[in-house]
Amino acid sequence: MVNIAVLGYGTVGSGVVEVVNTNGSRISQRIGDELNIKYVLDLKDFPGDPVQEKIVHDFETIIEDEEVQIVVEVMGGIEPAYTFVKRSLQAGKSVATSNKALVAKHGAELLSIAKEQNINFLFEASVGGGIPIIRPLNSSLTADEIEEITGILNGTTNYMLTRMFYEGADYEDVLKEAQEKGYAERNPEADVEGYDACRKIAILSSLISGQQVDFEDIYCEGITQITAEDMKYAKGMGMTIKLLASSKRYAGNRLHAIVAPFLLKADHPLYHVDGVFNSIFVHGNVLGDAMFYGSGAGKLPTASAVVADVVDAAKHLNRNIMTMWKEEKLRLEEKAGAKR
Ligand code: HSE
Repeated sequence: MVNIAVLGYGTVGSGVVEVVNTNGSRISQRIGDELNIKYVLDLKDFPGDPVQEKIVHDFETIIEDEEVQIVVEVMGGIEPAYTFVKRSLQAGKSVATSNKALVAKHGAELLSIAKEQNINFLFEASVGGGIPIIRPLNSSLTADEIEEITGILNGTTNYMLTRMFYEGADYEDVLKEAQEKGYAERNPEADVEGYDACRKIAILSSLISGQQVDFEDIYCEGITQITAEDMKYAKGMGMTIKLLASSKRYAGNRLHAIVAPFLLKADHPLYHVDGVFNSIFVHGNVLGDAMFYGSGAGKLPTASAVVADVVDAAKHLNRNIMTMWKEEKLRLEEKAGAKR
């Protein structure tokens, strides 16, 4: 049996429990062992919810339990998430997280602890919700130099801009709706000021460049100044307004990253990405162009990506997956070299 502990029973945490309950036998089959949620850490109690029997209020219960092999961090924010994740990794427990703030700020350090311990720190759900993007960048696209990533990385603002485009809706009304639907961050400033998209593009930029890219160094402008009238004018010109996050690499591994609202023409590949959907355009030097598209926020899509990481971590309990991928890349390069 593989035992996991879920830190946080909010939108994503309850989604993780739901995904494991719904697809439990299939997930266990993929792992080759039964997956069991042993603890759910939350400040609150949930009387009447079957999860209550797993609820603990003290992280020490989890860290001291040697049976817990994987910790799922879905609390959000930096503290206490950072302390809990770091301690989990140091104790030899792999971690799967959806927390982009944590990954953007401490990702390099946490990855290095996981590597030292020969376990895993996985964060597929931190960018693009349910869309696989971290794993492809680390594995399938590893033969490429990724020269550009441009995407719609925030579901809340895309939902808002879409409603403003099609219905001429007002900014305040659509923000409220997005919050009610569970897309928005606890503090909606993170969405509308572009900080959420900025953290996500910082994570992707770090991955493609192999160097830590600090989100505070990225020019970031949100959609707070966009009015229903701006959208009307854009529409009148046959265009729309989208909040894009973009990172381009130039010679010498120089990087230019930006988050800002852009006017897009109807023939732009991101023009038709509507609602809470995210889409990520990737250009690789040998791949050419590729697009990723899917549910970018919300309980179950995000939980799906988190649980996929749990499955990966469970299949590689004593093996660092990043190291494995790097070894595989070297092996392929050596093989290609031997042939030349
Ligand atoms: N608030 C985020 C969004 C949630 O709207 O995209 C997913 O990271």
